[in-house]
Amino acid sequence: MIKTKLMDMLGIKYPIIQAGMGPYSTTKLAAAVANAGGLGIISGVGMGVCKLLGGQKFMDYDPKKSPGQNMREAIQYVKEATQKSGGIFGINVPVAVEFRGVSEELIQAAIEEREKDSELVKRMKVIITSAGNPEPHVESIKESGALHFHVCPSPYHAKKAEKAGADLVIASGHEGGGHVAHDPVHSMVLIPEVVKTVKVPVVAAGGICDGAGLAAALALGAVGVQMGTRFIATKESDFLDYYKQYTMNIRDVRDTIVARGVFGKIRYLKTDATVELFEMEKRGHPDVEVANFELKSIQAIHFGDPKKAAFFGGEVAGRFSDLPTVEELMDRVVNEAEEIIRDKLPKLVV
Ligand SMILES: Cc1cc2nc3c(=O)[nH]c(=O)nc-3n(C[C@H](O)[C@H](O)[C@H](O)COP(=O)(O)O)c2cc1C
Repeated sequence: MIKTKLMDMLGIKYPIIQAGMGPYSTTKLAAAVANAGGLGIISGVGMGVCKLLGGQKFMDYDPKKSPGQNMREAIQYVKEATQKSGGIFGINVPVAVEFRGVSEELIQAAIEEREKDSELVKRMKVIITSAGNPEPHVESIKESGALHFHVCPSPYHAKKAEKAGADLVIASGHEGGGHVAHDPVHSMVLIPEVVKTVKVPVVAAGGICDGAGLAAALALGAVGVQMGTRFIATKESDFLDYYKQYTMNIRDVRDTIVARGVFGKIRYLKTDATVELFEMEKRGHPDVEVANFELKSIQAIHFGDPKKAAFFGGEVAGRFSDLPTVEELMDRVVNEAEEIIRDKLPKLVV
């Protein structure tokens, strides 16, 4: 049986974190992952974008509801849906400067919800920040008693997060879906270097979808993995069916593209829209035009035409084509990793 520090810290069965995947909802997915023994994560970004857009509708979120209200409702949903299993979960909030006021509101709402409910104190254990400087949020998270994890794209950022007080860092390599750093560092180099740089435990992310990925991450010194793209294509995930299907249909690991994103670059699955987004920047279109096209294409996922939609997704989409339940996926990843570590690797040492 694999046993790591991440599992001890959180009291979870598997060393697997489901990535926050705003702007989409991962509320149902978080419940399924927590029920199956991993760390389920509620995504905060989408909840706040209506406010950022001055009250316009965004994705499925009701612009009449505040970001804080959306967060409270999601937390209550996951709490109820994981009551029987006692599953462990948390939230993910990007803390980019562009999002500052909203991220404060989301984190504050989560802290308040947790403080008034002993069940949440036991089970909503983690607040994950990403895409920015976590420092302004550390004090309130620490005071609340929740653990604080921060997602980092480089050893430099990992060190800063550790100095600010993060309990754990998630090192996310450039092959990952969603926001990526301007300076590309890929998981194979990033993870051992972050492990060497910080004293706090490190979770590996970016390009992981199976047991070989988990075994490799542990070999590189990580205490677990965070997976994003792989969890999109699971039966319980909140993602639209044709988004899941599009992800599963990617056959080539080259079929992603890095283009403009609100808080920096984003890795998208290749579609006509995301290739055009990339080309617009290259042709030198004014930033506001590119930003409008990006937003329109992200919203377009609701119109059902994959050509017009900007799906976030990582290179690893080219490595799977099935739609397991969350439990099947997590059992499989851990069983494969155990087999590799216990049976296959020792045979290589003669
Ligand atoms: C659809 C999608 C949305 C994402 N949104 C967020 C987010 O809101 N916050 C965050 O910290 N990371 C986000 N990420 C990045 C993940 O946290 C994670 O680092 C990445 O998915 C890992 O790489 P993988 O996609 O190869 O598993 C997103 C990733 C995807 C695929």
